[in-house]
Amino acid sequence: MSPADETREEAVTAALGKLDLPAKARLLMGQDMWSLPALPEIGLRSLVMSDGPIGVRGIHWTADDPSIALPSPTALAASWDPELARRAGRLLAQEARRKAVHVLLAPTVNLHRSPLGGRHFESYSEDPYLTGRIGTGYVSGVQDGGIGTTVKHFVANDAETERFTVNNVVSARALRELYLAPFEAMVRDAGPWGVMAAYNKVNGTTMTEHGELLNGILRGEWGFDGIVVSDWTAARSTVGTITAGLDVAMPGPQGVYGDALVEAVRNGDVDESAVDAAVRNVLRLAARIGLLDGAEPVVTTPPEQIDGVALAREIASRGFVLVRNETVGQRPALPLDAARTTVALSGLAARDARILGGGSATVFPASVVSPLDGLTAALPDGALTYSIGAAPSDDLGAADRGFDLRARVFDADGALLGESSLPNGMVNWLGELPEGIDYDALHTVEVHGTFTPEESGAHAFGTKGIGDFRLAVGDTVLFDGAETLTGADPFDAFFGTPTERGTVELTAGTRVEVTMTHTPMKFAGMPIQAILFTLAHGEPRRDPDDLIAEAVEAARAADVAVVVVATTEQVESEGFDRTSLKLPGRQDELVSRVVAANPNTIVVVNAGSPVEMPWRNEVPAILLTWFPGQEAGAALAEVLLGVTEPGGRLPTTWPATLADCPVSEVTPTDGELVYREDVFIGYRAWERAGTTPAFPFGHGSGYTTWDYESIANEGTAVTVRLRNTGARRGGEVVQVYLAPVADSVVRPARWLTGFARVEAEPGETVEAQIRIPDRAFEIWDDGGWRKVLGAYEIEAGHSFAERLLSTRYDAN
Ligand code: BGC
Repeated sequence: MSPADETREEAVTAALGKLDLPAKARLLMGQDMWSLPALPEIGLRSLVMSDGPIGVRGIHWTADDPSIALPSPTALAASWDPELARRAGRLLAQEARRKAVHVLLAPTVNLHRSPLGGRHFESYSEDPYLTGRIGTGYVSGVQDGGIGTTVKHFVANDAETERFTVNNVVSARALRELYLAPFEAMVRDAGPWGVMAAYNKVNGTTMTEHGELLNGILRGEWGFDGIVVSDWTAARSTVGTITAGLDVAMPGPQGVYGDALVEAVRNGDVDESAVDAAVRNVLRLAARIGLLDGAEPVVTTPPEQIDGVALAREIASRGFVLVRNETVGQRPALPLDAARTTVALSGLAARDARILGGGSATVFPASVVSPLDGLTAALPDGALTYSIGAAPSDDLGAADRGFDLRARVFDADGALLGESSLPNGMVNWLGELPEGIDYDALHTVEVHGTFTPEESGAHAFGTKGIGDFRLAVGDTVLFDGAETLTGADPFDAFFGTPTERGTVELTAGTRVEVTMTHTPMKFAGMPIQAILFTLAHGEPRRDPDDLIAEAVEAARAADVAVVVVATTEQVESEGFDRTSLKLPGRQDELVSRVVAANPNTIVVVNAGSPVEMPWRNEVPAILLTWFPGQEAGAALAEVLLGVTEPGGRLPTTWPATLADCPVSEVTPTDGELVYREDVFIGYRAWERAGTTPAFPFGHGSGYTTWDYESIANEGTAVTVRLRNTGARRGGEVVQVYLAPVADSVVRPARWLTGFARVEAEPGETVEAQIRIPDRAFEIWDDGGWRKVLGAYEIEAGHSFAERLLSTRYDAN
């Protein structure tokens, strides 16, 4: 312990000594949705937590309080750059400070076990080593700014189906070598101040009560000294959780700690020392952040101010993965030559960019640069045309463009309780109601205002939420009735699809009144006070054949066609898994028809996780942009025009079809999901199955070419020399894989063991220095780590499939 840590620990001990049991038990539970109570008697201020991971939402889930929205975690991981992740973390700490948040509920470091995982976009990779390195950068960055992190979801929360209850059956070896590995690396290398215990069970025990994993491995073996906080509502017992090592139960004010914990101690069911241990962890966290009087925070001077918009743009382009770039005529399809190119842009997502995935990771940026905005700004006047081509979905979205709305809240007698402005048709009062409004008194919310359409035609309107609705547009009442809960996850009603209630003929430029009254259903016993519903709207629908035909004609007339294809919030979100990897709607057809009309077609894939691309061999260039964050279009224009090169490499194997995936099952049988593949997920599994994916792990290129010249090793220190053989400065991610020569144990054929990002001028030679960690040679065997002796090939190259150099090493 450093002297500063010791002083802080003394302050913690002193504060702990002054607390009685009720105060201690109160501190271990949320006082509301996002915060712990202040205890003025010991000089402790309230600690506020917030999601996470691509921005800091703040305690209000509303667009009134905007946040910088960075690219999805898959995009950050695609940069293969822990230093960039660290800068992202520092920016998020800055955002947290601005929003009076002390602990960020991030990063998500579960693994990409199946591409169907609904929150795939929210975690980093199929590889535990890459996940650990990116996560370490991120956590270090946030904590450089004096803000805490909660690395989540501990552990094996790799899919969403039955997520609250699923029992994931995982071997000790797969847990150690895969699922626990990123957590272990981050505890060792970044020292996170928090970990979040997942909803699911592992091998029969729910994670918030998993003493073996929490007190045993996380704290005991790894020496973790931060807090363990439950995922929201995941703490289900008092004795089981406190005994296992769960420090904080969120949210509150109802829950398993507080009074219930006092009673359990008084009954003799819980030893007070377990409560003290948890309180000590919470006080230590508070002291680190600077919320406990008498304890100096870890960071007294926050790092230099970061330009969030610029960093959002930089991360976007550094994470874009150019998976295909064939020569068309004399030169590669990308970059485009701006001076001589007319561009036909199509795809609804080019105009309505999908910048982030759905669920608790949602934040509301102040502004979004769509691909259409970005290219319009970057190309000369008259060089760009835009047509919708195909929409990923016919579903309605939250009423937005052209709407001017407010919410008014009434009690059961119709008396006005309060009002709130609404940035769009979404009402998201989660745990926190607008000023002066009492949850119990709230009976009806009226969303009222005007809509001025940009287009004439049949506008569709709808509702999302549970309870009674009355929806009127002008003189037309479109709906007056009730919506009931169908699924088991109440989040479905919130994150799911709106219900269309009818259409109204409107004229462009002519304003109409819109009123929706809603009497929400209040779920008895819900620990969260939430008022969540949406007034939904859809522009007049056009004949889909006409839309495609228009895009095809525009493509034919232009030098280059750029098609943006995307998934939707109904495809990639928290709360449910995917059922298919196909692009929704007629987007595949759009791509095929556009490229048939113009062979110089670039496809931009706006999806947080893998999608099938049946046309992938027909188009000369494919750029994966993930969920690119608020600067999506600015980064895209720069990359398409070659101002910057795409910096990303795949952090996860992209399959040609779902059927090819060696591991894809996410649906439990009788409540159980068995990880039968054991240690073979991702590229480890693809290689064993002998199946070729569409694009391998690590694949992707920039705008220059590289010659891998030599590899040498001194023990486990590896040096790779490579030369930039192209015509422009560029970056390369040198990847090192370890492959046993003749194996005595059942293991993958090879695995990632190191990487380094290098940059060089044309003709310049650079060296990448990579040290192979000892753990790379070990397997988890019979309750311990065992080094597997023998000869290994150390292979270096451009991707998992393109290993270009190798050298031998004898492990003994
Ligand atoms: C999610 C967590 C999130 C929490 C708070 C949960 O449903 O699983 O990742 O941090 O909600 O929003």
